[in-house]
Amino acid sequence: MFASGVTVAAARHRGRLHAITATAFASLSLDPPLVLLAIANHGRLLKIIRDAGHFAVSVLGSGQRQVCDWAATAGRDDTENATAGMRAARSGAPLIPGAIAWFECRLESLSRHGDHTLLVGLVVDAWADADGDPLVYFRSGYHQLGARIAESTGVPEADHPPGYRVDAAGLGR
Ligand SMILES: Cc1cc2nc3c(=O)[nH]c(=O)nc-3n(C[C@H](O)[C@H](O)[C@H](O)COP(=O)(O)O)c2cc1C
Repeated sequence: MFASGVTVAAARHRGRLHAITATAFASLSLDPPLVLLAIANHGRLLKIIRDAGHFAVSVLGSGQRQVCDWAATAGRDDTENATAGMRAARSGAPLIPGAIAWFECRLESLSRHGDHTLLVGLVVDAWADADGDPLVYFRSGYHQLGARIAESTGVPEADHPPGYRVDAAGLGR
């Protein structure tokens, strides 16, 4: 009953590479820029992020259902071939081509809650396509955004050109 965007969270450490579809992703703090990601305790990604100390999150566009399905397929082999040609974050984590935004994060903390682990990441690099149309997940199905019905009164719209990049310096670190 809660509409969300769809992301692919990924990490690489010493030749081990894994990516998963994740909707449990959210902003936590603006200063410093922190994000939250919840991932299953039993999955391979958690171990790799723990070892790497970094992860990357790509926000999928409305035309990226296939990528979403690929990254949600349990037990597949994420060989280097599967991500060949993909751009890598500085940590080596693959960034999904055609994503409408991505974040590279340094792992700040992790805490286990039930069958998932909550990761807090410090955003050290980020990029967004200001005109990107997101893939939306709602009631077990995929959607694209409908018409905007009102401007937000709470949060001022960022004044960025299309395809803006924020790096560590821009984030005040
Ligand atoms: C729409 C959707 C959202 C998902 N969100 C999450 C999530 O937030 N966290 C998570 O751990 N798994 C999530 N999953 C499941 C993982 O994508 C899936 O279990 C993972 O690819 C399996 O990887 P494994 O081979 O490590 O088991 C989601 C799957 C789908 C289809």
